[in-house]
Amino acid sequence: MASQEALKVMVLHGPNLNLLGAREPNIYGNKSLEDINHLLMEHAGQLGVSLQIFQSNSEGALIDYLHQARQWAHGVMINPGGYGHTSIAIRDAIAAISLPVVEVHLSNVYAREEFRRHSMIAPVCQGSICGFGWYSYVLALYGLVNHLRGKEG
Ligand code: DQA
Repeated sequence: MASQEALKVMVLHGPNLNLLGAREPNIYGNKSLEDINHLLMEHAGQLGVSLQIFQSNSEGALIDYLHQARQWAHGVMINPGGYGHTSIAIRDAIAAISLPVVEVHLSNVYAREEFRRHSMIAPVCQGSICGFGWYSYVLALYGLVNHLRGKEG
C-alpha cells in the first residue's frame, strides 16, 4: 500500500444477516448487525482504518458493492451468507476486482451441514475466518489490515 494514506476497508454483509440477534441465536449469537458494525467501527478507529459497511439480501447488489469497492477500498471483508456456498457470480466479482478480500462467517461452516462445507469464493479470497461468532469479523479486520500494511509473513 502506498504512502501514509489511511486504509479503507469495505465490509459487506450478505443475505439474512440483517436478522442477526433474532435469527437462530444458538448458531449466530445474540448480537444484532448494528452491534457488530459498532464493534467493527471501534476496532477500525483503533487501527486508524476507515470503513464503509453495507448489507444486502440480493446477490446483484453485493456484486455492485464489490465493483464499487474498486473506486474506494484497499480491501474488502464479506460475509456472503448462503451465497458463499453457491454464487459463481460473486466469486467472479471478487476475482475481477483485484483487491484482497476476506471471507467471514460467524459459524464454523465446516462443523455444520455438508452443503455449507464448500465455499465457492474461498479460492479467490486472501483468506477465510469462521467459527468465532461476531469476533470472526474483528479477526478478519485485523488480518486484512495486517496484510494491507505488509506486515504478514
Ligand atoms: C453464515 C454461514 C452460512 O452458511 C449461512 O448461510 C449464513 C451465515 C455465517 O456467518 O455463519 O447465512 O455465513
